Amino acid sequence: MATVLLAGGAGYIGSHTAVELLNAGYEVVIADNFANSSPESVRRVEQITGKKVTLYELDIKDRAGLSEVFHAHQIDAVIHFAGLKAVGESVEKPIMYYRNNIDTTLSLLEVMQEADVKKIIFSSSATVYGETNPVPYTETMPRGVCTNPYGWTKAMMEQIFEDAARADQALSVILLRYFNPIGAHASGRIGEDPQGIPNNLMPYVTQVAVGKRACLTIYGNDYPTPDGTCTRDYIHVVDLAKGHVKAIQYILQNHCMEIINLGTGQPYSVTEIVDTFEKVNGVKINHVYGARRAGDLPACYANADKALEILGWKTELSLEDMCRDAWNWQKQNPNGYQNA
Ligand code: NAD
Ligand code: UD1
Repeated sequence: MATVLLAGGAGYIGSHTAVELLNAGYEVVIADNFANSSPESVRRVEQITGKKVTLYELDIKDRAGLSEVFHAHQIDAVIHFAGLKAVGESVEKPIMYYRNNIDTTLSLLEVMQEADVKKIIFSSSATVYGETNPVPYTETMPRGVCTNPYGWTKAMMEQIFEDAARADQALSVILLRYFNPIGAHASGRIGEDPQGIPNNLMPYVTQVAVGKRACLTIYGNDYPTPDGTCTRDYIHVVDLAKGHVKAIQYILQNHCMEIINLGTGQPYSVTEIVDTFEKVNGVKINHVYGARRAGDLPACYANADKALEILGWKTELSLEDMCRDAWNWQKQNPNGYQNA
């Protein structure tokens, strides 16, 4: 079976993808510098699957170290998850974001070229659609104007991959544009482990539920949406991980340069998330309505047709599943992987 290198594979999406790849019979090698994760997630991936992962503590920007990984293993394909992803932090520390996110990408492409590895899947984001494209977003729309350095790194990296694939006819690339991944593995052993105060909605909700935060502020209820709060395309992280397995199967069998949305196509509002979480889990989420958050769009959701057409993939899990599994993870791990 093929060997897949997960750059940044100890993180939230990478660890869930590792489980699904191992379950599908792939060999998994992970390289991560634990900038936003811990080796404990990989240990738990091994527990869940009963299979071994080869783990390297490595900064992907370190070309010499990365080269050694490619010499030690016959890598068939790479998934590039390694990146910094906090929007607010990227506004405060843009140079750090450009350095880390762009450099990891260049380093991977250079070392892959040396090692003659020709298949890479990249974690892009719906954020590259910008502010002016109409929803639902389809892959043929132009990349838009991003509102923060994090978003720009994704748009720039997409451009880099497109140019690299144009120049090297043998290179295959799939740019996966994720919508809003939430939830956790059904075991509750792996999940999202944000450092400090969560920026994203679901980890904030679960921390209110577990008593770590007093109250959720809903950012704005005067948007032109059915209930006035923003709508997003929330996708269960296990569905997302299975999308990566399909993308790996596809890229191993086809020469390609594809951009593919990974979303459900179904928008839900912030209020619907809070209500569903309360109903499914029988807990109360204290919340207040506050001002809009700068940079938020009223609505963001995918046209998910292309993923079905090309990869034969669509989501299977519901919003109820997302809320139940997010809570199951948080309850079992009130401090994430800390003290594990
Ligand atoms: P995460 O922070 O949990 O995982 C990213 C991993 O990359 C972490 O384990 C981190 O330690 C590692 N990393 C960062 N820089 C590195 C470097 N220089 N060398 C080695 N490892 C490095 O984030 P995630 O939610 O799992 O996201 C994975 C990818 O998907 C990221 O590129 C992110 O931008 C992208 N993405 C995430 C979302 C989301 O909502 N979670 C949405 C769209 C796109
Ligand atoms: C955010 C980023 C996006 C990034 C994505 C994944 C912004 C503007 N966008 O998307 O670039 O790709 O995360 O990391 O930061 N909300 C609240 N209260 C909260 C937190 C969130 O009401 O405490 C609302 C937001 O206004 C939004 C929704 O919940 O309407 C989802 O927010 P979030 O989880 O941060 O994701 P996005 O803003 O969609």
